[in-house]
Amino acid sequence: MSQSIAVIKGDGIGPEIMEATLRVLDALDCGLDYHFIDAGLSALENHGTLIPKESLETIERFGIALKGPLTTPIGKGFSSINVQMRRHFDLYANVRPAVSFPGTRSRYDDIDMITVRENTEGAYLSDGQEFIDDGNTGISVIKVTRKGSERIVRYAFELAKNNGRKKVTAVHKANIIKTSSGLFLDVAREVAKEYPEIEFQEMIVDNACMQLVMNPHQFDVVVTTNLFGDILSDLCAGLVGGLGLAPGANIGESAAIFEAVHGSAPDIAGKKLANPCALLLAAAQMLDHLGMVEKGTAIRQGIRTVLETRRDMVTPDMGGTGNTDTFADALVELFNA
Ligand code: NAI
Ligand code: MG
Repeated sequence: MSQSIAVIKGDGIGPEIMEATLRVLDALDCGLDYHFIDAGLSALENHGTLIPKESLETIERFGIALKGPLTTPIGKGFSSINVQMRRHFDLYANVRPAVSFPGTRSRYDDIDMITVRENTEGAYLSDGQEFIDDGNTGISVIKVTRKGSERIVRYAFELAKNNGRKKVTAVHKANIIKTSSGLFLDVAREVAKEYPEIEFQEMIVDNACMQLVMNPHQFDVVVTTNLFGDILSDLCAGLVGGLGLAPGANIGESAAIFEAVHGSAPDIAGKKLANPCALLLAAAQMLDHLGMVEKGTAIRQGIRTVLETRRDMVTPDMGGTGNTDTFADALVELFNA
């Protein structure tokens, strides 16, 4: 039985890394049926909107999308497509693994952790931004709900439980931001009681930053509110060698969108220099989500093998002498061997 997914090739390097990724998925016989949809700059040209209604409907129909990076045009009137899609589909969980791979520019070589970031509330409300006092005072509202906190913390514990992970750390600032962050922490403590087999830890966000840099191995699953999660997950990407290896999933009840964390990299677009690893790892996350964990694991293991043994096929940002296509070639060869 084949599984239909929506595919957004994306802008800039998007089409190059997507082509590489789909070739690898095909080599693995994942039984996926791709439905290409328009979004980003090409959609703006063709439809006058960054994300046409038909594209949203296709994602809605299949519930799964693999997405290349999209350029958000600079200027008034364009709100980020990523933010729009998160809102439209209520993609409340942003799940970002940070896993060490060999042969990367990283300070550590055995990190394996996941940040689970609340994706729909917190400090990132479009209607919570206001200037008063003739523009001399800026006010940003932070809104945290019991429902929003409960579902993200439960998501983190379920993820831990289903993946044999041992510990969930709730990161907060409840000592100062007593209402919103305080509520999040209270709810985290309550939910944690339902999972006695998983260790629960609380950590104040500033300490968490230091601990992540000094001793990242103590972390397993980190769950936190929107703003802290945005910042911490980039910090974690830095721990494992940067954006070239950072995938992310945006998950809701009815849809899930998988993407690389990096952007459309216009400076290297069209040159086949783009590292396809982040999108490949996002595809692996998608396969896990679809219940094809063995195939997801094969991609992660394959990337590891190529990084270790085929430096001639690896992209220059990871110190190799290959390009986007040769990286995919190496994986395809591996899977066909
Ligand atoms: P960027 O992530 O596109 O690029 C930052 C730097 O990293 C550049 O030097 C780029 O060449 C390099 N880089 C990024 N991905 C790479 C890869 N796969 N392989 C090798 N090198 C890579 O960030 P930037 O320049 O701030 O944004 C460019 C555009 O991307 C903007 O229009 C922005 O709005 C959009 N963007 C989209 C995102 C998404 O769709 N999820 C996320 C972040 C930015
Ligand atoms: Mg961010």
